[in-house]
Amino acid sequence: MIFESHAHYDDEAFDEDRDRLLEGLRENGIGYVVNIGANIQTTKNTIGLAEKYPFIYGAAGVHPSDADELNEENFAWLKDQCSHPKIVAVGEIGLDYYWNEPDREIQKKWFERQLNMAREVGLPVIIHSRDAAKDTLDIMKAADAADMGGVVHCFSYTKEVAKEYLDMDYYFGIGGVVTFQNAKKLKEAVEYIPMEKILLETDSPYLSPAPYRGKRNSSLHIPLIAKQIALIKGMDYDEVVHITEENAKRLFRIME
Ligand code: NI
Repeated sequence: MIFESHAHYDDEAFDEDRDRLLEGLRENGIGYVVNIGANIQTTKNTIGLAEKYPFIYGAAGVHPSDADELNEENFAWLKDQCSHPKIVAVGEIGLDYYWNEPDREIQKKWFERQLNMAREVGLPVIIHSRDAAKDTLDIMKAADAADMGGVVHCFSYTKEVAKEYLDMDYYFGIGGVVTFQNAKKLKEAVEYIPMEKILLETDSPYLSPAPYRGKRNSSLHIPLIAKQIALIKGMDYDEVVHITEENAKRLFRIME
């Protein structure tokens, strides 16, 4: 079954039909979802969804764009959530230099703190890195992030950067962007990355694949992404679905 490794089903974009949509996923071949925390509130929401639905797992973490809400008190709370049985990763964490806020030093500080937290609780990490390839890698290397393992979500850098992550034995979350006509660099990177290191993801409600670009995304669109990867790799669609499911279960240590 399809393993959706990155979605935000607590987003208000799903307020109208969340339960109906989630209840229909399995009959559409989507077997597993990791819902991603992006701040304190969405980490709470994630745990709520993971407790309600057996096939939903969660990641606890604060996105770089919300890093300025962290303090010692809520950071301690965040760390406590990592022992919840359905929390399978710390994330999404990282650096986002596309936006000017919050200050880069604040982003870096809490990225480092959350990497170290993942080490202490023994969970892999889900990395968000936008326009910040070098600083992300520098901080990860300094924190020995290879030890925790993890996935670079919505990988959008070149194959040269992919090589650096492969050297740390990381996975790559590939989503709707791979279906865009102008995604030449990403398609080259996908060709280069071994199939055993690729995870399927949507980042729903964002980043809908073609031909739904700009519309609300959901895991129901993953087949479009898997078909594109199959085309690039010269593989069967079913093989892409099967291998990426095994990859995600290995990374998130889901035994089933
Ligand atoms: Ni996300």
